[in-house]
Amino acid sequence: MSTAADALKHVWFHATSTQSLRAEGGMTVFTKGEDCYLIDDKGNRYLDALSGGAFVTNVGHGRAEIADAIAAQARELAYVAPYNFIAPTTVELAKVVADLAPGDLDRVFFTSGGSESVETAMKIVKQYHWLGGDQKRTKVISRRGSYHGSTQYAMSISGASHDFNNKIFGPLVPGCLQVPHNNCYRCEYGLSRPSCGMLCASMIERQILHEGPETVAAIIAEPVPAAASIYPAPDEYLPMLREIADKYGVLLIIDEVINGFGRTGSMFACEQWGVVPDVMTMAKGLTSGYIPMGAVAASKRVIDRFENASGREAGLNHVLSFGGHAAAAAGALKNLEILQREKLVENSREMGRYLLDSLDTLRKLPLVGDIRGRGLLAAVELVRDKKTREPFAPGDQMSVRMTNYLRDEGILARTFQVVEFGPPLTAGREEVDKIVTGVEKAIRRFAKDVNIPC
Ligand SMILES: Cc1ncc(COP(=O)(O)O)c(C=O)c1O
Repeated sequence: MSTAADALKHVWFHATSTQSLRAEGGMTVFTKGEDCYLIDDKGNRYLDALSGGAFVTNVGHGRAEIADAIAAQARELAYVAPYNFIAPTTVELAKVVADLAPGDLDRVFFTSGGSESVETAMKIVKQYHWLGGDQKRTKVISRRGSYHGSTQYAMSISGASHDFNNKIFGPLVPGCLQVPHNNCYRCEYGLSRPSCGMLCASMIERQILHEGPETVAAIIAEPVPAAASIYPAPDEYLPMLREIADKYGVLLIIDEVINGFGRTGSMFACEQWGVVPDVMTMAKGLTSGYIPMGAVAASKRVIDRFENASGREAGLNHVLSFGGHAAAAAGALKNLEILQREKLVENSREMGRYLLDSLDTLRKLPLVGDIRGRGLLAAVELVRDKKTREPFAPGDQMSVRMTNYLRDEGILARTFQVVEFGPPLTAGREEVDKIVTGVEKAIRRFAKDVNIPC
């Protein structure tokens, strides 16, 4: 049997039905990665405009240095459990992450990925309040449309697919409250800036008051929501969240699982808003996917509360066997060294600007409703009607058509509500130009399908 046939028989793919994978072009076997490119088992070479498919491979594919660092550490000492054993490499990584993280986010809890990081953050904020005598502070406020992961708590706070999750995986974790998002192109209040007065942010305050501040543990937000059609928060938004959180003794969690490690043009996205969270979740770009690992950093305020506690409650009651895995830490350290040595954060900022400026030329097309993004994380929103911003209907098959048409141009990208791009942070003008030329061709093809002169 071929690899593809074996895969369809034995691999349970994530969030995708086997039926759709069986369709023509439904599944691809990739055998090699080279910087910004992925090569399939038939020898086709694609520009990987999604960093491995999930905004992960920030330093690009095929970095032998990282593979060697992981192998060397595994040969020496691959693993010790994270209770009271630790490898020097893991300590070194904690220091590096604390150093890179903004403000006083100085202590790092290691996980195996983003969902675990978010799950960990939920426990940190709850135990923090419990230790402070605020046992009723259990509610967490997130934004509609957001995605924070697939484990039960992370899923429960995620706004994306909320009705589906509730229906099939419910009951969801109680106390997960979703408020309207801050997508200015599709404001839930039908308002526009600046006359909106940032109602989306002040509604979070009203929600806290409505629930009773003594019941609210945390607010969680992703500065540039990647799974939720990539709309950077307005300048005032995150500082307002910080202010509201402080006013009511609520903790602010910033989810940097995708945004972090240079994706949006700064080491962490929240820096661009001048906001230091109490808890910050990370994964993906921490190792660029060479080995699974995530992390959560906590601020002095949070850590002090644990330090000042006594007995069993002084430790976070949360154990992940693979947290701080020594070989993974070695991979992360090498990955972060490359990120800094090659100035990839700066490149993300510069090429991100070039990508947005170049994509902006597509606004002339009648289907292009909006272009937005930050760093090397960008979206093109297609609409049936520019004036009314009417989206395409499911029957128009925009998602599958645009994804396939881009693939015909040799580009791996994805389209949910919007066409999304997030190439490795090593991308140069050549890759950006290829994306822009390819997406224009794909849009023109799709315009024909839906009978829009273009
Ligand atoms: C913002 C955000 N948080 C958390 C997660 C979950 O991360 P993981 O898939 O590594 O569990 C994701 C995944 O895409 C994400 O985008």
